[in-house]
Amino acid sequence: MSEASLPFNEKYSPSIAKVSSGEKRKQIWEESIKNPQEFWAEKAKAIDWFKAPTKVLDDSNPPFFKWFPDGELNICYNALDRHVKTARKNKLAYIWEGEMGEVKTYTYYQLYREVNKLAKALKDLGVKRGDRVAVFLPVIPELPITLLATTRIGGVHTVVFSGFSAEALADRVNDCGAKVLVTADGSFRRGKAVGIKDNADRASSLMTNIEKVLVVKRTGQPVQMKEGRDIWYHDALTAAGANAYVEPESMKSTDPLFILYTSGTTGKPKGVQHGIGGYLVWAYWTLKWAFDPTDEDIYWCVADIGWITGHTYNVYAPLSLGITAFLFEGTPDYPGQDRWWQMIENHGISILYGTPTAVRMFMKFGEALPLKHDLSTLRILGSVGEAINPEAWKWYYRVIGKERLPIIDTWWQTETGGFMISPAPGIELTPLKPGSATLPLPGVNIDIFDETGKPVPAQNKGYLVIKSPWPGMLQTVWKDPERFKLTYFGRWPGIYVTGDYAIRDQDGYFWLLGRADEVLKVAGHRIGTVELESALVSHPAVSEAAVMGKEDVVKGEVPVAFVVLRSGFTASDELRAELIKHVRTTIGPIATPDAVIIVNKLPKTRSGKIMRRLLKAVLTGAPLGDTSTIEDEGSIDDIKAAYAELQYQLAAVAAKKTQ
Ligand code: WT7
Repeated sequence: MSEASLPFNEKYSPSIAKVSSGEKRKQIWEESIKNPQEFWAEKAKAIDWFKAPTKVLDDSNPPFFKWFPDGELNICYNALDRHVKTARKNKLAYIWEGEMGEVKTYTYYQLYREVNKLAKALKDLGVKRGDRVAVFLPVIPELPITLLATTRIGGVHTVVFSGFSAEALADRVNDCGAKVLVTADGSFRRGKAVGIKDNADRASSLMTNIEKVLVVKRTGQPVQMKEGRDIWYHDALTAAGANAYVEPESMKSTDPLFILYTSGTTGKPKGVQHGIGGYLVWAYWTLKWAFDPTDEDIYWCVADIGWITGHTYNVYAPLSLGITAFLFEGTPDYPGQDRWWQMIENHGISILYGTPTAVRMFMKFGEALPLKHDLSTLRILGSVGEAINPEAWKWYYRVIGKERLPIIDTWWQTETGGFMISPAPGIELTPLKPGSATLPLPGVNIDIFDETGKPVPAQNKGYLVIKSPWPGMLQTVWKDPERFKLTYFGRWPGIYVTGDYAIRDQDGYFWLLGRADEVLKVAGHRIGTVELESALVSHPAVSEAAVMGKEDVVKGEVPVAFVVLRSGFTASDELRAELIKHVRTTIGPIATPDAVIIVNKLPKTRSGKIMRRLLKAVLTGAPLGDTSTIEDEGSIDDIKAAYAELQYQLAAVAAKKTQ
């Protein structure tokens, strides 16, 4: 997003909601920052504790903060048991729709029964407190059931997004040392059964700890079941018994809840570790503040449970609040480009938490599709994953929201556990500005620093930082506390560095301006350029690679790779296609480069560092600026020529398609 084009002064007031100045919000925020202990002690009462905490925060060993350190609880108990004891028992917890249009529902009671059966099955497989359970599943009901069953018995889950490759799966499973893997035979995509178990099988020779694999039958396609290791999920449940009940383990608030891998600036993804008590308090309150859900709502967060958004806002937050959530297995444009609108109409969905990439895709499909459907049940719209550009925001507001509904743009990260900056109709809705996530939520002590660590004046770009701990924050990087310290707190003592650029305007509203580090956001998915580069150089033809993000009208950003070949290899369309495929199979389809540009040399400084700024300038057509430190001027001309050649080829392909 270009900073110059941000509409700092454009304000919107959706007609459905009362919009006011923000005095109340400001007062609550100030209170939370001034007296965090009192503030969070009060908020923690929304949770059912087996042993109520007497202390809010142990900050004796920063940055390893401990929230509600002497509290004890079980998160599955908070998501299920406490509702099952009330009239909520027979309320729907989930409405699930599969890719092929089939619908399944679970009341809180039914979900509780399923979770107990699986908890017993996992126990029978030997899963104990603290053991890691790896999960490689599509969005089917068994996915949240597995998370809840694992946490019921004190296990720690690691979900690997089902679109990741075998290698990516094995890396993550090995790093966390899981001994049980829960997967499925396959999943449906665009009407076809696609394999998942086969990927897990390919990973299995690389996975060192896995002793047992539970396999959900989703598609019924043939799979290989390894004797002594692989067990059908339904057989395990039958063995557990129809009336299985497992006592929820009383866990320490500070015990780990899950590990979720995310990309950073080095090749190896980080195992972001979240704890139980602080995370749950954060999940509960942030959903309440930002989406203000009620008993009448049908709430739909479109994220896959393989990402943090799905963990927090498809599982722990909605269930602990006792609301009804909708889950969808499939693709937004199958069988028709109005699939979302059809489902909203069919199920009467009232809260839609979507993404900028989806909104931009629907803009391309045209207004006629949503207009064909009854979307009158909607009352709140959300957005997450990347900044929503003002144009997409306005389309969402006008076409889907009919200028009635607030757009809740939520800024946060895997590491923050839940929303950090967002409008908060659950407290008080302030005027909206298209493209701004608005204001920090209570407890979020946020600022924008310059290079030297000084706060920048309003309207100036800088590094977004967080100056005090908050309950939802990550506890550490799994098995790597040094990396945790260095990555997040290494630049300025006591200051959490988010890795994002931001501006604060004259009204105190925050505008997110993308990553300040070498991390890409492709359709909202986080991918490190270094990961892509290591995937490329693992191919025998590649000696060097540099990956950059290039602007894209739908995905926001797509990876473009510049590569230098080893001697003996020559550039060809086949080789370019093969390298693209190689990245897909090494990491997964979300990492697919938009283009591979083969060059003779990469521009480097005299000290040998690749000049990314120059590559970026070539991609965007921006002036190259100072090239005096460059080692070999020729490399820039070479890259420009290769890029022009590629543009020419792409245009030729496009011209052929339209003929
Ligand atoms: C990064 C975190 C947040 C859960 C899903 C992604 C970008 C996320 C927004 C937003 C501007 C956003 C940031 C952030 N981001 N939401 N509303 N506005 N940028 O989690 O994969 O950990 O990515 O996503 O760059 O640092 P993640």
